[in-house]
Amino acid sequence: MHDLVIYGAGGLGREIAEVVRRINEQHYVWNLLGFVDDVPHSGTIWRNLEVLGDIRFIRQFGKPLDVVLGIGAPSPKKRIYQKLKQCAHVHFPNVIDRTAQITAPARMGEGLVIFPMCFVSLNVALGHCVYLNTGAYVAHDSSIGSFGSVMPHASISGNVVIGEETLIGAGASILQGRTVGSRSTVGMGGIVIDDVPDDCVAVGNPAKPIRSPSKPNVSVNAESGGGLPCQDF
Ligand SMILES: CC(C)(COP(=O)(O)OP(=O)(O)OC[C@H]1O[C@@H](n2cnc3c(N)ncnc32)[C@H](O)[C@@H]1OP(=O)(O)O)[C@@H](O)C(=O)NCCC(=O)NCCS
Repeated sequence: MHDLVIYGAGGLGREIAEVVRRINEQHYVWNLLGFVDDVPHSGTIWRNLEVLGDIRFIRQFGKPLDVVLGIGAPSPKKRIYQKLKQCAHVHFPNVIDRTAQITAPARMGEGLVIFPMCFVSLNVALGHCVYLNTGAYVAHDSSIGSFGSVMPHASISGNVVIGEETLIGAGASILQGRTVGSRSTVGMGGIVIDDVPDDCVAVGNPAKPIRSPSKPNVSVNAESGGGLPCQDF
């Protein structure tokens, strides 16, 4: 049995607490101590769990500690992961709901959170700290780079490459063989039929960019710099 804290006491953190509780119902894997948050909270957050402190609680823990990041936005998730990675006693377990189905993955990083009713098909690569939220579907031979968040009921077809730190909004769909670049967002309900470049926010059906900070006026048909995000973990 391992001590565990959830970093982030918001809605996602509470949802993760429920996944942990459900896993513990079957096999008692984790002693869930509570939440850690940058913002002080007093009192109970969820069930009998409280905020124990900020990042210093983890740094000063003094014995092995499992940490799950309850942070949906990919870039802050990466920042906190990199900070905590420097603590030798911190480990990032994979938290996978017992109703999720994962068939013969190619590679899986650490710190994954896979919510209820997700389906991950054959030969899929998932980087570190990837979240698949409720009902997300990832088809064969696809990859999702580290710190990616796939929101509820998004559907990623086969042979899709998703870069690092990219968010796929709830109910979005990605056509097979397409690339969504790093640090990009596909909006809720977006239908991606052309590659989405790095640093782009694309929305609608078909998804078109509304913003691209590093490359203003970039077209969705521009060559994507998505690369092979899962190679480096
Ligand atoms: C795409 C997204 C990131 C844009 O957020 P934002 O930067 O705050 O953008 P705004 O709300 O200012 O909207 C900018 C424009 O895009 C449009 N827009 C925003 N999201 C859209 C979407 N999902 N589909 C279609 N159009 C969208 C807005 O109507 C607005 O259009 P306008 O300029 O013509 O008025 C956000 O709307 C989104 O879809 N996030 C994903 C949310 C999600 O999946 N949550 C899951 C929770 S479990």
